[in-house]
Amino acid sequence: APEKRETFSSRKLFILSAVGSAVGLGNIWRFPYVAYENGGGAFLIPYLVAILCAGIPLLFLDYAVGHRYRGSAPLAYRRLNRKAEVLGWWQVLICFIIAIYYAAIIAWAAMYCWFSITKAWDKNPDGAGAFFQSDFLKVAPEAGVGFDFVGSIFVPMILVWLVTIVIMVAGVNKGISRANAVFMPLLIVMFAILVIQSVFLPGAIDGLNAFFTPDFEALKNPTVWAAAFGHIFFSLSVAFGIMVTYSSYMKRKSDLTGSGYVVAFANSGFELLAGIGVFAALGFMAHNAGQSVDEVATSGIGLAFIAFPTIVSQAPLGAVIGVLFFGSLVFAGLTSLISILEVIVAAFQDKLGWRRTPATLIVSIPVAVISLLLFPTTTGLYLLDTMDAFVNQFGILACALVIVIVLGSGLGALPKLAKHLNRHSSIKLGTGWKVLVGGVGPAALGYMLINELQTKMSEQYSGYPAWFNGIFGWGMAGALIIGAVLLSLIPWSKNSKLDDP
Ligand code: PHE
Ligand code: NA
Repeated sequence: APEKRETFSSRKLFILSAVGSAVGLGNIWRFPYVAYENGGGAFLIPYLVAILCAGIPLLFLDYAVGHRYRGSAPLAYRRLNRKAEVLGWWQVLICFIIAIYYAAIIAWAAMYCWFSITKAWDKNPDGAGAFFQSDFLKVAPEAGVGFDFVGSIFVPMILVWLVTIVIMVAGVNKGISRANAVFMPLLIVMFAILVIQSVFLPGAIDGLNAFFTPDFEALKNPTVWAAAFGHIFFSLSVAFGIMVTYSSYMKRKSDLTGSGYVVAFANSGFELLAGIGVFAALGFMAHNAGQSVDEVATSGIGLAFIAFPTIVSQAPLGAVIGVLFFGSLVFAGLTSLISILEVIVAAFQDKLGWRRTPATLIVSIPVAVISLLLFPTTTGLYLLDTMDAFVNQFGILACALVIVIVLGSGLGALPKLAKHLNRHSSIKLGTGWKVLVGGVGPAALGYMLINELQTKMSEQYSGYPAWFNGIFGWGMAGALIIGAVLLSLIPWSKNSKLDDP
């Protein structure tokens, strides 16, 4: 007999898991710098506009599709309309690419927890940056694909995959919910202590001033608005299939919009807290080096693996800062990785009619193997960088744009989805929602996509050789679409119920 589809046992656990997915590396290492670069305190205005006009409306769209059609992304879209299945597979493949490199970053962060105690980077006379590139990742001099493995990354990556797969096999309640119920409180407590410790560092106030001082002139600049919209799509994990999948596990009787607002504002609250913590720490770093905050401010890998180690070495009780910071990256990353993997597992489970355990193992193990073959190598950083730039920053925009156009104009699905949302929500939506999803969504996404396209075409990404970007950037982004079409052509299992539930 086919297994009964699991549901989150309570609304609280759904919210916790959805927040676990939304709060990821982006909140910690991306938001602070994006806000700082785009108007500081004044960025709050485009940011709030982007949340209310695009982020939350699209989050509701994902919830509506998942909760109404009760399936993984391909199944939910298929039930909505036969031809829409391919959209779900596109999301599955995007999640696959993100999953294989997200695990690598989590593994690096885990190693850096340990290095915070040993201060391993102090042994390199050229500093933490040189340590990261040469001693830790052993980055090859040129971009390429070699299978030159780096043991000290391979081992922690195996552990990351083991932990993740064990959680996935256990299922929605015993695995995903439970992991989030443990990791999220831990993350919040650790991060709160980190922020408090950071604001008391000498020089912290300069960092906070740099972060909060509003530059209202910036609001006249369209790229600032695009940055706000771009960040919020990524930060809320909308249009990745994640929220479709998670909301398909919500009980039929739920409060969709009420939960959505909680998730969105919890995510923003965490980002704001991260802005404070990160800039307080950067203020200390600048103060120590006799530099301006502007000279030390960075984001992403540079912030986490170059700036923070420097701070850890110089700050009073630096080891504590390091363990809290890198530990936060690990927990924030793991809860996001789980959600990304669930998109893939649930999709194959539905399509092939498998039970949870075999589906999880048959799907996750190959994903883990590919991740382990590509990323703990001397060329892993190049691959990660290019895949992130083309799939995560570019492919996802294209996918999101196609989805809002297809659901909005193509299939005219918004009225019935709005009706579903209103039937299952404490906070009701008016026509405004349809206008935002059908009009503002495509306009904002279209504008950003054109912008991205121009940037990606005008300069060789990061100065990598053209063949490298051709294959792993453009080629990969295109292959995902072809792959999605092929996957949608595979017949569904006899166990799968394709009609409207
Ligand atoms: N929303 C997460 C963040 O802000 C990132 C993420 C993207 C997580 C895609 C899952 C999937 O970091
Ligand atoms: Na986020």
